[in-house]
Amino acid sequence: MSASISPGRVSTGVAGLDEMLKGGFPQGHVVLVLGPPGAGKTCLGLQFLNEGLSHDERAIYLSLEEEVAALEATARQFSWPIEDARRKNKLKMVMLDPQHANNAMKRIMSELPRELEEWKPKRIVVDSVSLLSLLAENDAERREVVFNLAAACRKCGATTIFIGEADPIHPQASRDGLAEYVADGVVLLGYEEDPDRHGVRLAMRVVKMRRTSHMRSRQPYVIGPRGMDVDAKAVDLGSL
Ligand SMILES: Nc1ncnc2c1ncn2[C@@H]1O[C@H](COP(=O)(O)OP(=O)(O)OP(=O)(O)O)[C@@H](O)[C@H]1O
Ligand SMILES: [Mg+2]
Repeated sequence: MSASISPGRVSTGVAGLDEMLKGGFPQGHVVLVLGPPGAGKTCLGLQFLNEGLSHDERAIYLSLEEEVAALEATARQFSWPIEDARRKNKLKMVMLDPQHANNAMKRIMSELPRELEEWKPKRIVVDSVSLLSLLAENDAERREVVFNLAAACRKCGATTIFIGEADPIHPQASRDGLAEYVADGVVLLGYEEDPDRHGVRLAMRVVKMRRTSHMRSRQPYVIGPRGMDVDAKAVDLGSL
């Protein structure tokens, strides 16, 4: 659950992350949520949408990875009524198949900006921008598709999460090396061995967030039955 939110801010749906951001994402931002597989990127994306849906906002989830049924099953296990919102036409799930790159590119470059302009969602999630950039045939097209989509999201007035896969060699950078520059903000998720608990510890850090101050420390988070929960008060874990 999120705390009360300041003007010009959009609750992320994760109270600890709102605290790290001094009140949530600045309204209208495109924020890259970057992390390795299984770090909870999709979970955070759905939690962010659910927060808006619970305030009767319209939302769009653009997926190049998981099918609607899988995303709804994920949401169901956290008791987020995503299915219900889709039936009530508050939430649009747009599926793009990376196997059909030409169709997917056409949808993103021409149809989607129009759809966003007409439908005016308050929240958008793109899962993932890494797959999106793979649809492009060359670097110039890759830049164009990521820039255009970010511009269309900003133009329609939404606040947006771009989900990005971390580069396996340089986990603080995205696979395409592009989205972190296009985005207004970057939230980095990561995990590491935790010798104290004989397991893995999850932590996140706000790398950049234009037009706001924010915590720069690395804060632990867990994924539990109610979704993601960040401890913004924990002592800094070091550099992620
Ligand atoms: N109900 C749950 N309770 C606790 N942890 C969960 C639950 N559901 C999922 N998780 C954790 O969340 C992880 C998956 O999160 P998510 O799908 O959001 O990751 P992701 O970063 O999007 O991964 P990918 O890069 O593969 O798409 C699981 O690997 C698991 O550790
Ligand atoms: Mg995912």
